[in-house]
Amino acid sequence: STRGPLVIAVDGPSGSGKSSTSRAVAQRLGLRYLDTGAMYRAVTWWMLEAGVDVHDADAVAARCAEPELVSGTDPGAPTIHVDGHDVGAAIRTGAVTGAVSPVSTVPAVRARLLDLQRAEIAAASAAGGIVVEGRDIGSVVAPDADLKVYLTADAGARAVRRAAEEGGAGEEAVAAVRASLLARDEIDSGRATAPLTMPDGAVHLDTTPYTLEEVVDRLVALVGR
Ligand code: DC
Repeated sequence: STRGPLVIAVDGPSGSGKSSTSRAVAQRLGLRYLDTGAMYRAVTWWMLEAGVDVHDADAVAARCAEPELVSGTDPGAPTIHVDGHDVGAAIRTGAVTGAVSPVSTVPAVRARLLDLQRAEIAAASAAGGIVVEGRDIGSVVAPDADLKVYLTADAGARAVRRAAEEGGAGEEAVAAVRASLLARDEIDSGRATAPLTMPDGAVHLDTTPYTLEEVVDRLVALVGR
C-alpha cells in the first residue's frame, strides 16, 4: 500500500454510527477528522439567527457566503465556530435539526461547503490524512478517497442511539427521533444535488449487530496500514 496521506470517506444516514465510528478510526490511525454534517448545521444555525426563511432557497443562496466557518479537526475534540462563536452545542438543537435538510439542498450552500471541505482535506495531508464523514463524501467531496465506507443501521437501532445522544431514552423520545430521522433521510436521499447514495467502490457495513469497537476494528483492518 502507498504511504501518502490517507483519506477515508464515511457516508450514511443519520444515526448509523458515522460520527462515533469516524472519530474513533481517526484517533486510532492518528488522522484528522471532519464532520461535514456539522458544517451544514452551522450554516443552518446562522440562517436561523439571521432570520432567513430556510425554505426560501433563493434567500439562503443569496446569503450563504456570509458566515465565517472554522472547523477544528482534532478527532479527540472536534469544534465548529461561526463568526468566532463556538456553536458546537447550538447546532444540535431541534430547531437546527429540523431546518438543516432544506438548507443543505441549496446548490450554492453545497458549493461553498465543498470548497471548505476540500481545503480541510488538503490541509490534513501534512498531518497524515483525514477521516471525513457526511452524505456525499465518497461520491462528490473525495471521490479518490483511499477507503470509502457506507454505514447503515436499522431505523429502530438508529433512533435508539440518536435519542440516547440527545438525552431521551423513553419510548416516546425514540419514536419522535425515528420519525424525524426518516423524514430527513427522505430529503437527503431525494434531493437533486449530491443526494445520499452509496458511492461506487464503497464498503457497505450494516452496523446494527455490532458494537462501536467491532466496527472500528473492521475499518482499521480494511485500511491495512
Ligand atoms: O450528519 P448530520 O445528521 O449531522 O447531518 C445534518 C444534515 O446535513 C443532514 O440531514 C444532511 C446534511 N448533510 C449533507 O447534506 N451533506 C453532508 N455531506 C453532510 C450532511
